[in-house]
Amino acid sequence: MTLLSGIFGYPIRHSISPAMHNAAFASLDIDAVYSAWETTPDDLAAGVASLRSEDYLGANVTVPHKQAVMVHLDEIDDLATRIGAVNTIVNRDGRLMGSNTDALGFINSLRSEAGVTVAGLEVVLIGAGGAARAAAYALAEGRASALAIANRTVERAESLASELAETGILANAFGLHDPDFLSACERADLIVNSTSVGMLHGPAEGDSPVPAEVISPGCVVYDMVYNPPKTPFLLDAERAGAQVIGGLPMLVYQGAAAWSRWTGREAPVDVMFEAAKEALGL
Ligand code: ATR
Repeated sequence: MTLLSGIFGYPIRHSISPAMHNAAFASLDIDAVYSAWETTPDDLAAGVASLRSEDYLGANVTVPHKQAVMVHLDEIDDLATRIGAVNTIVNRDGRLMGSNTDALGFINSLRSEAGVTVAGLEVVLIGAGGAARAAAYALAEGRASALAIANRTVERAESLASELAETGILANAFGLHDPDFLSACERADLIVNSTSVGMLHGPAEGDSPVPAEVISPGCVVYDMVYNPPKTPFLLDAERAGAQVIGGLPMLVYQGAAAWSRWTGREAPVDVMFEAAKEALGL
């Protein structure tokens, strides 16, 4: 029996996840396939219900379904509950288990790409959407010492900062033009962009979320945007002498963590990286 998996999203045609996961199955001779399932909000419940049959390993979930999918699952782990979003579903004998591998993808990519562990670091996080929430809880769990969260809509940053209080991390919220946010950038060990600013074909293509002058040479600068591979933010950071990480490693490591949950095996990360790069034409 060929085992099935895939991703629910809308739109999903341009996803590179099928290339990445199918390459991983092939490299380990696993008889399984991963598909892109273009799924409207109206079709989500039926799509998720079909995962209960024995030929399904599980699925990934992406925009716009990461929150809406939660009511259709049997169990959701603590981290995904706190983040408020599920990106991975495992079919365990007909029961659907939800988790979120974005946080692990973020932490593992920092470690593998830059040798960075977050304990004790002063971090600036730009954005307050789903991707930011995954990074914020990963940083709190990893015992970062301080977190400055800046967002265009400051109220969203404020509510994330107050939710994080229970984790013990010192979190403060700012608007993107707040002088205190800009000085937090100058002091930061790590600056993370989790907004779509700089994304190819996005609403702010060609822009950077912070002025170039606030990036210090000793800083690690992380942009979750993976296309283009070098965003304006990363180009500014390189010019400032900072170490940079693009969004592709997080995409690969969140996928690798999901793949391991479905198969019970260690994911072939190098194979997944190569397949993702090829699918992006890099
Ligand atoms: P995701 O799940 O990818 O995080 P999201 O929840 O829609 O997506 O969050 C998008 C993030 O990008 C938000 O922080 C958003 O800011 P708002 O909360 O103010 O909407 C941010 N964002 C999107 N476009 C932006 C722009 N042009 N300038 C600044 N921030 C932007």
